[in-house]
Amino acid sequence: MLIKKTQSIRENEVTSQEDYLRRRDFLKSSAIAGSMAAVGLPLLSSCMAEQEATAESSPSPVSPLSNVIPAPPQYSIAKSKITPEWEATHYNNFYELGTSKEDPARNAHFLKTKPWSVAIEGEVEKPGQVPLETLLRPHPLEERIYRLRCVEAWSMVIPWIGIPLGQVLKQFNPTSKARYVAFETLYDPKQLPGQKTRALSWPYREGLRIDEAMNPLTLLAVGMYGNTLPGQNGAPIRLVVPWKYGFKSIKSIVKIRLQEDQPMTSWNDENSREYGFYANVNPEVSHPRWSQARERRIGDWTKRPTLPFNGYADEVAGLYAGMDLRRSF
Ligand code: MTE
Repeated sequence: MLIKKTQSIRENEVTSQEDYLRRRDFLKSSAIAGSMAAVGLPLLSSCMAEQEATAESSPSPVSPLSNVIPAPPQYSIAKSKITPEWEATHYNNFYELGTSKEDPARNAHFLKTKPWSVAIEGEVEKPGQVPLETLLRPHPLEERIYRLRCVEAWSMVIPWIGIPLGQVLKQFNPTSKARYVAFETLYDPKQLPGQKTRALSWPYREGLRIDEAMNPLTLLAVGMYGNTLPGQNGAPIRLVVPWKYGFKSIKSIVKIRLQEDQPMTSWNDENSREYGFYANVNPEVSHPRWSQARERRIGDWTKRPTLPFNGYADEVAGLYAGMDLRRSF
């Protein structure tokens, strides 16, 4: 993967913390307003002016999400530590929209996210091609403020909105043969022009073990910073696995397949020496070309130590009991 420095941005291009926090307060108040959550619910007037202001500087339109359950206390961190929205939406890895950090935001307008459906296949009793709205309808949307640690040794703190993946999978009744879950990004070079290049073998693929997929931390995200996902962040639906390097968090998902065998995954296929299937954040296992002991939080000048499992060891270390994490990296 490429490593580039973040672009320097003008002061007035940064979404202020106050703007973001106002949206959070709105989320909190709307969480009790109703039980059903869905992407693209009618805009609420209190949000509209703010939304229009954001949309002006945003290359792909987003809309506010309502009826979101606020982040539970363990994921509510000091507000000043959340990465500014501009950085999280303009410093991206989405090779289908270009290989520089700035390309995805610039090219996101090519990606059309409505209508959208997800194929649920393989070892489930109820497979199907499911419209996004149907997939989400039974579940309340939840906010989760997670650290994102890229394998390139930078990190961010992002307030996602989504549904635990396990809840969604249970809807389709996985069979006893479902040991792994494979994910695929949309393949359409007109919408994702990077697929006209050979940067990776397309479509982008990722995978998890079934117990990783069922862990309550694993999120299918449909929003961030109070809004639906912008194209560059993987609209309309992406994975977020906060204890693994960011490349596991596959964007713009169109297929979820439950299966018996470990799936092929794009970066592992590209270079298995550098990108393992597990990709658990591990400061003790260096990438062959750089150390993983420290990371640069986007917006900070100095580096900080990287934490095992990106700081989520209490929740997930047990999944790997008895495994040699140097070999299964
Ligand atoms: N998903 C797809 N389809 N294509 C990609 O290039 N990049 C991955 C991951 N998901 C990528 C992807 C990498 S390397 C990272 S670090 C995260 O997305 C970045 O997510 P962000 O741009 O929302 O911060």
